[in-house]
Amino acid sequence: MQSLTTPVERNVRLSEHLGCDLRIKRDDTYPVYGGGNKARKIRYIVEGAVNAGYDAIVTNGGVQSNHARATALICAERQIKCSLILHNDRAAIPSLCGNLLLMKIAGVLPRFCKLSELSESMDAEMANLKDQGFNPLYLWGGGHCVEGSLAYYEAAKESQGQCDDWIPDYVIHASGTGTTQAGLIAGYADLPTKIIGVSVAREKVRGSSVVQASLTELGNYLKADFTKEQIDFRDDWIEGGYEKESGQLLQSIDGNARVGLILDPTYTGKAFLGLEKLLEIGEIPRGSKVLFWHTGGLLNLLSSPTYMDQTL
Ligand SMILES: Cc1ncc(COP(=O)(O)O)c(C=O)c1O
Repeated sequence: MQSLTTPVERNVRLSEHLGCDLRIKRDDTYPVYGGGNKARKIRYIVEGAVNAGYDAIVTNGGVQSNHARATALICAERQIKCSLILHNDRAAIPSLCGNLLLMKIAGVLPRFCKLSELSESMDAEMANLKDQGFNPLYLWGGGHCVEGSLAYYEAAKESQGQCDDWIPDYVIHASGTGTTQAGLIAGYADLPTKIIGVSVAREKVRGSSVVQASLTELGNYLKADFTKEQIDFRDDWIEGGYEKESGQLLQSIDGNARVGLILDPTYTGKAFLGLEKLLEIGEIPRGSKVLFWHTGGLLNLLSSPTYMDQTL
């Protein structure tokens, strides 16, 4: 597979403002499938699936799922059959925008179901595609599988290769279904860097245990021992839950946009707010070397009702 990289940028203005040595890994600029961590992961997942003989993918997410969008786009490019099950009330979707719009123009007609019926709907679609003669891959939401973790294990190596002898004291990023964090923990395991995952929805116990499960799975895959690695998954800046926003979150997003750092309210805004707060309370000491891993989210910002409802 051709390697696609993203830059690590120094940010002098924000470093001075925050009082740390800040660099940003710009995975929001990942060059294919709409960018972000889900685009990076899906390339690994589809590569593995095609090599294993799959010719269709059944996966799921919400209407503004970055994973569902990246899956739809890579499947369109590779002409792989793609079935998306979206766990939303179709009648409550306000407009065709952001990720949902990209899914549609990529030629995928999503099916909708209640969250409580997701498992059955996935099984039914798998059976449906098998009846049509396909060999479908069952891909859980968010790209939750070992290839997703592997993508981020390799991304950590890529990033370190770009930083010469600058070794971050902390890497901080938005954490959801766990494989981005598991891959980063594994990729930095031979360095003193602490990886902090800021939850976008899950509470600490559940979130930490899914990261742990993905790390164990990746360790088995790579035949490496990551059992001594700590999982640092924070649920302090969920700000009300998935796709929920608070005043301090919006204030942080707006303030950072004015100095050129575009964040979103569902994912990266929460992670950056976490960074600001950890510096404020001194848990990340001033002067630390911090790598903020920007995982994307522009389409979530552009489809956020709060931002779409604003007037000039
Ligand atoms: C922009 C963005 N950042 C971070 C995450 C969290 O990634 P993961 O699910 O691998 O923990 C997601 C998940 O949807 C995302 O879309």
